[in-house]
Amino acid sequence: MYLSHPNGRDFCITCQKDFTGLAREEVLAAVTDARQVHQFGPGTLLFNSLTPFDKVSENLRRTGSVFVRHVCPATGHFHLHDRDSLIGLLASQTLPSIDLRLSFSIQTRVFGHGSTRAFDVNRALSNRLERSGALLNVREPEQVVSVMVDGSEIWFGVSWASQNLSDWTGGEHRFQRAGDQITRAEFKLLEALAHFDISMAGCCRVLELGSAPGGWTRVLLNSGLRVVGVDPSEMDSRVRSNRNLVHLRMRAEECFPHLSGRFGALLSDMRVEPGRAAELVCKLSTLLAPGAPLIVTLKLRVRDARLVTQRALRVIDTRFDVIGARQLFHNRHEVTVVAIRR
Ligand SMILES: C[S@@+](CC[C@H](N)C(=O)[O-])C[C@H]1O[C@@H](n2cnc3c(N)ncnc32)[C@H](O)[C@@H]1O
Repeated sequence: MYLSHPNGRDFCITCQKDFTGLAREEVLAAVTDARQVHQFGPGTLLFNSLTPFDKVSENLRRTGSVFVRHVCPATGHFHLHDRDSLIGLLASQTLPSIDLRLSFSIQTRVFGHGSTRAFDVNRALSNRLERSGALLNVREPEQVVSVMVDGSEIWFGVSWASQNLSDWTGGEHRFQRAGDQITRAEFKLLEALAHFDISMAGCCRVLELGSAPGGWTRVLLNSGLRVVGVDPSEMDSRVRSNRNLVHLRMRAEECFPHLSGRFGALLSDMRVEPGRAAELVCKLSTLLAPGAPLIVTLKLRVRDARLVTQRALRVIDTRFDVIGARQLFHNRHEVTVVAIRR
């Protein structure tokens, strides 16, 4: 049985579970009439509001939300009495909202303990919609059908992929582990490059602060870049002997007199206080070519994360144009800031 929500304007956001309070504050600041009505699981919240979803998405962007990783509409809701009717109900309710000339994909999340599997819903529903003429494109869809299953309660909504803040289900950008991967931190860099659409191709020579043990360095070297890594700790043997790597075994605070020439990009994953990271990248910005990208992770404590992030962004803003700050899926207690040297 289909029970359209009386207000019909629910939306679902996802964030890192420890930062749920901050993400909730961002939603309430961006969508002033929103109120939380459900929590699917850690870091996945349902809000009700009279604001249309396109405005919700636009406001989250405009107000510079950092901790909301993903948002999707949940404009339809039903209680499932009969599991066999799930796909038929979802197909009939979502098809009218899908533009058949443009591609779509299904992004299902299942919460709690049920026998429904997200993969099965994705496959069965996309088969059904394809039979009705819709164009499936799982990797780069223009439209997304979001489905949240929580026991016998089902929520769903259709949106443009670009409205969801991330193309990935719940913003969970997954990468295949490479055989010679050095650290899981490599995923942070790959996700930042993809999310902010940054190409390092023309950067030639990169300055990397906090480079040990060398996960990011491995990614950069594999892209054909030359790297100057600055870190008092030792680099992993898999990158140490690479002739395109110069390792300055010292703290970033001491490296300035040892550097010369221009760098095409500045990266920092230093485990230091965010204000210090911001000051250091600004000091070293004089070594960057104009237009060079900066990627810096800010290590945060939950209790003052917002204040500390805002302060660090103000410092970075004195030398760079900030493109964005976002807690990505592969960031734990940190956010990634991407900016461009003026
Ligand atoms: C999270 S790890 C970096 C991991 C690296 N991105 C990778 O993929 O292998 C943080 C690094 O910051 C370094 N670090 C801490 N304080 C630093 C400082 N003042 N200057 C340079 N590096 C620093 C630590 O030695 C540590 O190796």
